[in-house]
Amino acid sequence: MDGLHRLAIAKGMFYGAAIATRHLDDAAFVAALVQECGIIVSEWEAQWAAVEPVRGNPNFQPLDRLAAFAAGHGLLFRGHAGLWYKRVPDWFRAIEDRAEAEAAMLAHLRAKLGRYRGQAQSWDVLNEAVELRDGREDGLRRAVLLDKFGPGYIDLLFHTARAADPQALLCYNDYGIEYDTPWHAGRRAAILALLRGLLARGVPVDAFGIQAHLRVGSPFNADLWARWLDAVAGLGIKLMITEIDVADMSAPGDIAERDRLVAAEYARFLAATLPHPAMMGLLSWGLSDRYSWIVRGTEPSHKRPDGLPPRPLPLDADLRRKPAWQAMADAVIAAPKR
Ligand code: G3I
Repeated sequence: MDGLHRLAIAKGMFYGAAIATRHLDDAAFVAALVQECGIIVSEWEAQWAAVEPVRGNPNFQPLDRLAAFAAGHGLLFRGHAGLWYKRVPDWFRAIEDRAEAEAAMLAHLRAKLGRYRGQAQSWDVLNEAVELRDGREDGLRRAVLLDKFGPGYIDLLFHTARAADPQALLCYNDYGIEYDTPWHAGRRAAILALLRGLLARGVPVDAFGIQAHLRVGSPFNADLWARWLDAVAGLGIKLMITEIDVADMSAPGDIAERDRLVAAEYARFLAATLPHPAMMGLLSWGLSDRYSWIVRGTEPSHKRPDGLPPRPLPLDADLRRKPAWQAMADAVIAAPKR
């Protein structure tokens, strides 16, 4: 059967995955990547803290290698992220003068987006700016970027990004919106309000990136979700799934049963999401369980009680298609052409 991207293209969408440069040294993985994907995104090497840990000495070589790989294999390339509060360099956090900090932030954004001008299909200009627990009425996260510049930093980033690469689709990317809980509902409301305000001010936001880090056993309301997607797209922007994977911590250890439950979570969410006419396509946060942040277990919440390795992605660690792959393929095939 065709790879996921070829299935997606037939419906006017794309499929791809996040990768790290070191994955390009794994020939078997690269073969699977090229078979399944039509777009790639850097898993972490485009982040400011990774590019410029030492002020004034940016290293874009890993990102250059990924962009060159994409170009050499006829793949689209997307950037992640322009700015993310979690991954700004320590030297930037230490800058006390607002004008100096702003100049440094914009210089980085201009250099990064300008370097891949015309090559990037899209950029997550800003990642994860909403955090209701911080208690602001606008729901914005009280982190380094807001602390230094106030809420206007978001407008500034998108205007700067547009000037740096007029051809790239500019996305705002966030998580924690997919399920039917009060926490997710609060985040959906805050993100919708953020996007509405940006667009009302003429800020150039072209799309909203749905991270879609899903978990087996979570409450989902397809109608509620579809209505929210309508509200976001109704602002006149596109939608894309940018980081989908399914954490299986609450699923039993048995692999067949676990794979079935993970596939069912992909199927349920994608059936409610891909049909939306504003949906441009999807990327998973990794292609194979061989390389997944969930399997690496950097987050305590990703450790299974039985200690078994999670199985979150469409291919297993031996690069074999899983029921999750079939669920994604079936959802793409079932989606209307756009
Ligand atoms: O591989 C290097 C290693 O050689 C080096 O010695 C070490 C030194 O720090 O770094 C290692 O790279 C780490 C990399 O993950 C690969 O494991 C980076 O430090 C670490 O920062 C990086 O974390 C990434 C994280 O974002 C922060 O950028 C994760 O891979 C990546 O999966 C995660 O992705 C985020 C999205 O950007 C936003 N949405 C949530 C998603 C999951 O947290």
